[in-house]
Amino acid sequence: MRYRILHISDVHVGPPFRPKVAQQLIAQAHEMKPDLLVISGDFVQRADFADQWRAAKELRAALPSPQLVVPGNHDVPLYNAHLRLLDPLGRYRRHISRDLNPVFELPGLAVVGACTAHGLTIDDGRLSSGQITHLRAILGRYGPETCKVVVWHHPVLTPLGIRRNRTMDKANAAMTLLDECGAELLLCGHAHVSYVGNTRDVVHDLRNGTIICQSGTTTSSRGHGREHGQNSCNMIEIEDRAIRISQFLYADAADRFVPVAEYTFPRGG
Ligand SMILES: [Fe+2]
Ligand SMILES: [Fe+2]
Repeated sequence: MRYRILHISDVHVGPPFRPKVAQQLIAQAHEMKPDLLVISGDFVQRADFADQWRAAKELRAALPSPQLVVPGNHDVPLYNAHLRLLDPLGRYRRHISRDLNPVFELPGLAVVGACTAHGLTIDDGRLSSGQITHLRAILGRYGPETCKVVVWHHPVLTPLGIRRNRTMDKANAAMTLLDECGAELLLCGHAHVSYVGNTRDVVHDLRNGTIICQSGTTTSSRGHGREHGQNSCNMIEIEDRAIRISQFLYADAADRFVPVAEYTFPRGG
């Protein structure tokens, strides 16, 4: 088994969007020929504006398929409180995907997304008790021979150097849930800076822990911390004996995304 997942995030179509970087992303994504493209939320800058949704839909269509996508907090309207509370993800569902908790399967691989964005607050993320039950049931279908990957917009930890807490509510409980379900890898975004680590860095008594792989913003000017003003994405290779993560940064001089770090995690140990 050898699968390749291209992971991008926080494309933020709207004023902070970088069309030139997006064009290069589209070209490189097709060159890479991933088995799956994951987009971990924040498709638009402001979900109140129809033109941003149309452009986000076009961007999604220009990128390779198959895709697994989840919404982010920016995909919930900010100014229209009525929509935010009564139909927070209606526009996302209409323009991007009706499925808020998508599942993608290949022999030996299960990728399971869950929507952590909601309309009650502007920035925070959480999983409902129903989502937790659903996630347990879905991940429980697969045996240890299957590599289980979970995709959320909100991360479970805030990388060093980021001042504001960016984590989802009850992040420690979420990490315990991932461990109990045997999830090997978590893909997320929202912090606008790349990060690779393990849930055991935070919750020390987990059974196996879960690899955390965050992407920064792939096509906007909203990068934070050491990726201030920069754009990033990840290529993940899943093999029988290892998971490899390559972090890519957009290099202005080369006018393309270039690899800047690689991580290898043994599997099946
Ligand atoms: Fe974002
Ligand atoms: Fe976000």
